[in-house]
This record gives sequence, C-alpha cells and structure tokens, in this order.
Amino acid sequence: MKAIVYEKYGPPEVLRLKEVAKPVPRDNEILIKTHATTVTTGDWRARSLIMPAGFRLFSRLFFGVTKPRQPILGTELAGEIEAVGKAVSKFKVGDEVFAYPGAAMGGYAEYKCMPEDGAIALKPPNLTFEEAAALSFGGTTALDFFRRGKLQKGEKVLINGASGGVGTAAVQLARHFGAEVTGVCSAANVALVRSLGAAHVVDYTTEDFTQNGETYDVIVDTVGTAPYSRCRRSLAKHGRLLVVLGGLRDLLLAPFVSLTSGNKVIAGPASERPEDLRYLAKLAEEGRFKPVLDRRYLLAQIVEAHQYVDTGRKRGNVVVEV
Ligand SMILES: NC(=O)c1ccc[n+]([C@@H]2O[C@H](COP(=O)([O-])OP(=O)(O)OC[C@H]3O[C@@H](n4cnc5c(N)ncnc54)[C@H](OP(=O)(O)O)[C@@H]3O)[C@@H](O)[C@H]2O)c1
Repeated sequence: MKAIVYEKYGPPEVLRLKEVAKPVPRDNEILIKTHATTVTTGDWRARSLIMPAGFRLFSRLFFGVTKPRQPILGTELAGEIEAVGKAVSKFKVGDEVFAYPGAAMGGYAEYKCMPEDGAIALKPPNLTFEEAAALSFGGTTALDFFRRGKLQKGEKVLINGASGGVGTAAVQLARHFGAEVTGVCSAANVALVRSLGAAHVVDYTTEDFTQNGETYDVIVDTVGTAPYSRCRRSLAKHGRLLVVLGGLRDLLLAPFVSLTSGNKVIAGPASERPEDLRYLAKLAEEGRFKPVLDRRYLLAQIVEAHQYVDTGRKRGNVVVEV
C-alpha cells in the first residue's frame, strides 16, 4: 500500500510517498481503508520536534530518540472497514467510520488497523469523509479540557486562538454547552469565529484581552500567549485557565495556583476516548458541531500540506484525500 513515511525529524521535505506492507488485522482489530486524513499540529510537532519550552527531551523519549519510532504520521482519519478480525463484534465490513489513533499515528496510509475498542466511531452520514476525518483532534481536545475545567452553562468563556483546529472546535462546543463565548483571533477570522457561535470577538492585533477590564470564568489558551501570569486578572472568582498549549513551567506551576488562589490552572495532554468520538459524531449528525475545513490536499501533496500547517495560520483543519 502507499503511505507517507518519515525516517528523520525535520522540515516538511522529510515526508516521502513510499510503498509499504499492507497491515493485516489481528483477531480484535478492524482494517480501515482510509479515504481522508488531516495535517494537525500534532503531526507538525512529531515531524519537526518543535515543542513547547521544556518538552524537547521528553518528546524524543516519546517519539523516538534518534529517529521516529512510528514512521507514518496522521493522528486522525476517516474511511471504510475492509476487513475485521474474527473476535470483532462492534463493527462490520462496509461500515463507514472515523478514527483517532492520536499519538499512535498511522493515518497517512491507504490502510490502518486499529483495535475495535480504540477511538473509532461510525461516520455521521451527513458528513463527508474529509469532514469526518477532521472531527477528532480539535473536538476531543476541547471536550477533554472543558470536562476537566468543569465548564457550566451560562459561564463566560474566552478562547485564545479561536480560529485554529482546537479553537474552532472549542468555540462550537462551548456554545453548545450554553456558555457565552468570546473568541480571540485576527481580523481576517472574525466573521468565521462569529459564525461558529462566539458572541464577542477580540482582534488580538489591535486589542489585548488581558487589559480590557473584562473577566471570564474559563480562559482557554491554544496559542501559548496567555499563561497564568498574564491573564490571572482576566479570570473571574473561581476562574479556570485551560492551558491547551503551554510550557513545562506552566504544567509544574498549575498545582501551586490551585493551592494559593481561588483559581485553577488545568494543563497537560488531552485524553483520547472512544466515547468522545461517539459524542462528537452525535453532535455532528444533529447539526450542532461541524469541523471547519481549510485547504484540501492529495496524499501526494503532503509536503505542501505540511508547509501550510507550519505557517501556524491555518483556519480550522487541513484535510488530505487518500
Ligand atoms: N494539550 C493537548 O493535549 C493538545 C492537544 C491538541 C493541540 N495542542 C496544542 O495546541 C496548539 C494549537 O493547536 P491547533 O491545532 O489549534 O493550532 P492551529 O490550528 O495551527 O492554530 C492556528 C490558528 O492560530 C491562530 N493564531 C496564531 N497566533 C495567534 C495569536 N497570537 N492569538 C490568537 N490566535 C492566533 C491563527 O490565526 P491568525 O492567522 O489569525 O493569527 C490560526 O488560525 C498547538 O500548539 C498544539 O500542539 C495541545
């Protein structure tokens, strides 16, 4: 089968189209014929090893010390089940599914095996394979942080980086949970962020949300420009800062903030749960959640797709047709 592989860390050009062995499902696994995958910031980080401050050493331990342990990137995908192992009972051949291998990767290939208990769900029938492929990364991250941050109906939420992959999902989900959403983005993305459900938008190029006197019950930082030291005055009493992107220092300081103030800082990796995929699929089917698609590429154009994501300016999700 065709796959995109990388054998060393580096710029987008380390990615190459290659013929590799087609996987065979084990007894408890399904074999998915991939129709679409995405280029997420997770793929960008695993390829380049550009990491938040303090995480570089850990990242080599995680992804492979001298070279990538998993040569096929791709955190999320959508496709059709081509074969199932003999112990599989939850899925059948022909099911259209989307899946989130997450940190295990492997989406940049014509076929992917996953255990049936893994992060897999039936594709909402009203979504294309491209849309379904983009459901998981931003959606599960936002869901997990809102769960840990105990977001309540009627609360005021600010989302820094509202036009990115995580941000566009977070705006929609916060709105769905009944929060009053403020999105922070640049002027070019104001209309998009409003259309997703933000009641207020702050253009970070002309206004600093930490200086405008407003306070929020929950602040979500997906950009890394709103550490606790900068935005603590913008948190309401019992406010929570959800650090989707932050350095090791933010992670280590989090318990001290909770001990020494009425606020909470919640950081660390988001979990990858099958039930979250099923929940996102249900919302998508009901028309309450839709992944924002930016540019589309073919698998053979993966270098261009990564070059675009490397700019840090994508709007929502970049999808790749396999
Ligand atoms: N903790 C976890 O488990 C977890 C999970 C997923 C992702 N992450 C991390 O979260 C980060 C965000 O991921 P993502 O996929 O959402 O990124 P992304 O899609 O690449 O974000 C791009 C967006 O960020 C906006 N942006 C850039 N600078 C900004 C600024 N100063 N203020 C506000 N918006 C700004 C850009 O809009 P403009 O062009 O308008 O500036 C663009 O739309 C990544 O670093 C990723 O590693 C962490």
